Amino acid sequence: MRVHIADHPLITHKLSVLRDKRTPSPIFRQLTEELMTLLAYEATRNVRVEECEIETPVTKTVGVKIADPKPLVVPILRAGLGMLEGMTKLVPTAEVGFLGLVRDEETLEPVTYAERLPDDLSGRQCFALDPMLATGGSLAAAIEYLFDRGAEHVTAVCLLGTPQGLQKIEEIVGDRDVTLVLGALDEGLNEKSYIVPGLGDAGDRLYGTA
Ligand code: URA
Repeated sequence: MRVHIADHPLITHKLSVLRDKRTPSPIFRQLTEELMTLLAYEATRNVRVEECEIETPVTKTVGVKIADPKPLVVPILRAGLGMLEGMTKLVPTAEVGFLGLVRDEETLEPVTYAERLPDDLSGRQCFALDPMLATGGSLAAAIEYLFDRGAEHVTAVCLLGTPQGLQKIEEIVGDRDVTLVLGALDEGLNEKSYIVPGLGDAGDRLYGTA
């Protein structure tokens, strides 16, 4: 598994504003989108392209275009939705699928409650968007789900992660082709499985339900 932890001052600056508990929802949403666009630049480093002929005003030459099948962007509901626009701004030809996961309060295992994905993901490069890699349970389940459906490669993009979450993803990945892009790696988790220092509940802060 390849792991990339952002170290750009603009990303750290925007994350700092996001972490501040006084930052209101509209600003939080805007910053989440901007951060995703910055992380998308790194996350798409290996996006598949193919050569194409183009004609400039001066001459014919060879360029590249994003290859088929197009990348599939999968925001993990609900908080991953806040990252979607930031990604599609940079890759407007990507297709979008949706995956909703919730923790079963009895088994504590993530279960899928919503799914809108193409039937066959064979040969697809998938981009799973989930702002908070906390215990890693739901993102690990999402990654497995995409591979079970035939995905060739999964890049997961998170604003914040923890060492525990990273370890969980590493455990399930095995020799499959996974890239993890993080805005920052935080210290760990508190007793309620919130990321520390973190930013609180990303879904609540995005959608004003805090
Ligand atoms: N999900 C969140 O939204 N925040 C956390 O800190 C952990 C999981």
